[in-house]
Amino acid sequence: MTKHFDTKTVHFQQDDGEKNKSKTKPIYQTSSFAFKDLNDMEEYFQGGKDHLYTRYSNPNTDDLGHGVAQLEGAPAGIATSSGMSAILVGVFSVASPGDHMVVPLDLYGGTYQLFQQELQEWGLQVSVVDFNDPLRVEEAIQSNTTLLYAESVTNPLLRQEKVEKLSQLAKKHGLRVMIDNTFPTPYLIQPYTQGADLVVHSATKYIGGHSDVSAGVLVGTEDFIAAAKKKMINIGANLSPFEAWLGCRGLKTLSVRMAKQSENAEKLANWFKRYSDAAVVYYPENLSNKGNGAMVSIDLGEAYDINAFFESLDWIKIVPTLAGVETTISYPLNTSHRTIPVEVRQQLGISAGTARISVGIEDADDIIEQFSYALNQAQK
Ligand SMILES: Cc1ncc(COP(=O)(O)O)c(C=O)c1O
Repeated sequence: MTKHFDTKTVHFQQDDGEKNKSKTKPIYQTSSFAFKDLNDMEEYFQGGKDHLYTRYSNPNTDDLGHGVAQLEGAPAGIATSSGMSAILVGVFSVASPGDHMVVPLDLYGGTYQLFQQELQEWGLQVSVVDFNDPLRVEEAIQSNTTLLYAESVTNPLLRQEKVEKLSQLAKKHGLRVMIDNTFPTPYLIQPYTQGADLVVHSATKYIGGHSDVSAGVLVGTEDFIAAAKKKMINIGANLSPFEAWLGCRGLKTLSVRMAKQSENAEKLANWFKRYSDAAVVYYPENLSNKGNGAMVSIDLGEAYDINAFFESLDWIKIVPTLAGVETTISYPLNTSHRTIPVEVRQQLGISAGTARISVGIEDADDIIEQFSYALNQAQK
């Protein structure tokens, strides 16, 4: 059949079928999948074909969900447009309006906002309690409670949640447990294997690892993930194929990045403990036998000028994010935890002197040199 110029501009590509095998997974940068005929399309609805429309599923987004699920030891997973949307569809999969959830004081500010504002407006009741005290958690459980939510390592003060204990408590009361495992990643901790029903990630962070992608991943039981996927499709919280592809590329180096970044972070935390006697150093202990994570938080207190400290860092960028291969620093008071009520921040210990350091893969001596210089400059 003849093709005129205008037709040729859009129908120039050759279908090479299986002829050219790509070493890496191609990016299925398509909004939809094509079918031979109506029977072929019907096959999708009968379960005989994997993909119909990218908002529903796509080979690249599937890869990311399955990849993280495997690392977490969970049977199923989906990738979503952001960490926030992964949390949202996770909650939607286990809770309905009128239900109640119990969450800790020390939550990432965005999550706190999602629970306190959007989900409460949707009809969910939320109790915020101090998870340091298991009795408080148990006391907060009501007849309509369905979910306990926590972060495995908290943002920004790096408190370790006792996931196994929380899961035991949840089982006792017939509740679900959802854990945000963004900070330690499955390289260090696998909350699903410790009894959590759902595990969520801001894949924007260590899963992607290069600060070039916004994405979320939710993993868990087949049933919950199927329910969450339905919500993701209906809300339109799907991830783009290219972002998923970047997330997968990042995931391939998760182990080497986490090993090096945790090693560097341990050195930096120890250095801070030795040489900055006025600063409080937050760094997990005995988190896993592979290390204690790549985040170090400090509180410079009154002895240092926090502005001078931030200003004196040279190649360490000030950013409102974490987990890239470069060492960066953030100021939780004015960014990630800006929306947390003042009294909650005070109770937690997030102060005007708190800085959160995301340790990268550089030479540890160079990282320490930067902070040594900044501390000297900042000393009052
Ligand atoms: C622990 C934690 N959970 C969830 C999120 C939200 O992720 P995203 O920004 O990818 O939506 C963040 C973002 O900083 C986070 O630190």
